[in-house]
Amino acid sequence: MADNSGTVLITGGAGYVGSHVAKALRTAGYETVIFDNLFAGHSEAALGSRLIVGDITDVDSVRKAIRESGAVAVMHFAAWLSVSDSIKDPLGYYHNNVIGTLATLEAMATEGCHYFVFASTCAVYGEPHQLPLSEEHVTEPISPYGQTKLTIEKVLPNFEHSYGIRSISLRYFNAAGADPEGELGEDHSPEIHLIPRALAAAIGKTPIDIFGEDYPTPDGTCLRDYVHVSDLSSAHILALKHLVSGGASNIFNVGTEQPYSVKEVLAVVERVTGYRVACHQAPRRAGDPAVLYASAERIRAVLGWKPSYPDLERIINDAWQWHQKHPDGFTNDNHAG
Ligand SMILES: NC(=O)c1ccc[n+]([C@@H]2O[C@H](COP(=O)([O-])OP(=O)(O)OC[C@H]3O[C@@H](n4cnc5c(N)ncnc54)[C@H](O)[C@@H]3O)[C@@H](O)[C@H]2O)c1
Repeated sequence: MADNSGTVLITGGAGYVGSHVAKALRTAGYETVIFDNLFAGHSEAALGSRLIVGDITDVDSVRKAIRESGAVAVMHFAAWLSVSDSIKDPLGYYHNNVIGTLATLEAMATEGCHYFVFASTCAVYGEPHQLPLSEEHVTEPISPYGQTKLTIEKVLPNFEHSYGIRSISLRYFNAAGADPEGELGEDHSPEIHLIPRALAAAIGKTPIDIFGEDYPTPDGTCLRDYVHVSDLSSAHILALKHLVSGGASNIFNVGTEQPYSVKEVLAVVERVTGYRVACHQAPRRAGDPAVLYASAERIRAVLGWKPSYPDLERIINDAWQWHQKHPDGFTNDNHAG
C-alpha cells in the first residue's frame, strides 16, 4: 500500500466526485473497485474499473466487496446530497447517509480494513460566525444533510478507538469542474449545482433560478468557494498516503479560500461559453448561508495540499469542455434515480 499498489474500495465511485478520485487513484498506481447502487451514478463513469452494483446499507454486500477485492482502504462517497431534499425527507437521509455509512464501517471493522477517507462537507458548519471557516469553527448544521455528515464525523473516533479504523474527513466546499482529460464530468439528475445548471442554460436548456438577490453581499447573491474536482482528487490521495504512513486521523477543509458570488459565476460562464445565461429571480432557499469559504491552512500544513486549478475560469472551462461533448450527460445512462 505504501508503494501505491493496494486496492481501494470506492463507495459512490460511479458518481461525480468518486469517479474522478477513482481515476486519479488508478493514475497514481492503485487498484480501484467501485461499489455503487447506481441510484445517481453511471456505470460509464467507472471507466472500465471493476464496478460492484450494491447498496451500502447492506453490510454483507460491503463485507463481501472488501473481502473479495482485498481492499485495504475505503473511500466513502456514497450518499444523498441535496440540502433541500434532506429537509423534506430527513428519514431517508439518515437512513442512507448515516445507517449506510455505519454499515460500511461495520463491514470494515469485521473485515480488518483500517483506512477510511470520508466525503464530508462544509454544510457541517451551518451559519458562519467567522470567515474564512476553519476546522475549529463551531459545527451547527442547519440541514439534515449537514447533520448526517457531522454524525459520521463524530462516530469516527469511537471506531478508531475500538476497531482501529483511522480516518480522514474531508469537508469539501463546492466541488466543480471536470476531468481535464475530458473523460469524466458532472451529471446529476436533477442537477442541483450552479455551474452545470448555468452551462445547460447557456446552451438553451432550462433557465436557472437565482435563489435570493437580497443577501448582505456586494451583489446580493450568495458567495461560495468552488474547488476543482481534480484538486479534490489530489486531496484524497494525500489523505490516504497520510493514513497509510501512520499519520493521525484528522478533519480537513478542502477549498480554494476564494469566494465567488452567483452573479460572478454566471458572468464567467458567459465569458467562457460565449452565450448568455438565461436566469430568473427566485426566493432564498432554506439552509443557504450568505457566504461560505474555507480556510485551507490545516490541509496545506499537514498534508501539503495545494490546489492546481484555483482559477474559476479554468474550473468552468473544464466543465464546459465536458458539457459540450456530453450535453445530455453520460450516454449509456443506466442510473436508477
Ligand atoms: N458535489 C459537491 O459539491 C459536494 C460537496 C460536499 C460534499 N460532497 C459529498 O461528496 C460525495 C460525492 O458527491 P457527488 O457530487 O459525487 O454525488 P453523486 O450523487 O454524483 O455521487 C454519489 C454516488 O453515491 C451513490 N450512492 C448513493 N447512495 C448509495 C447507497 N446507498 N449505496 C451505494 N451507492 C450509493 C450514487 O449512486 C452516486 O453514484 C457525497 O458524499 C457528498 O455528500 C459533495
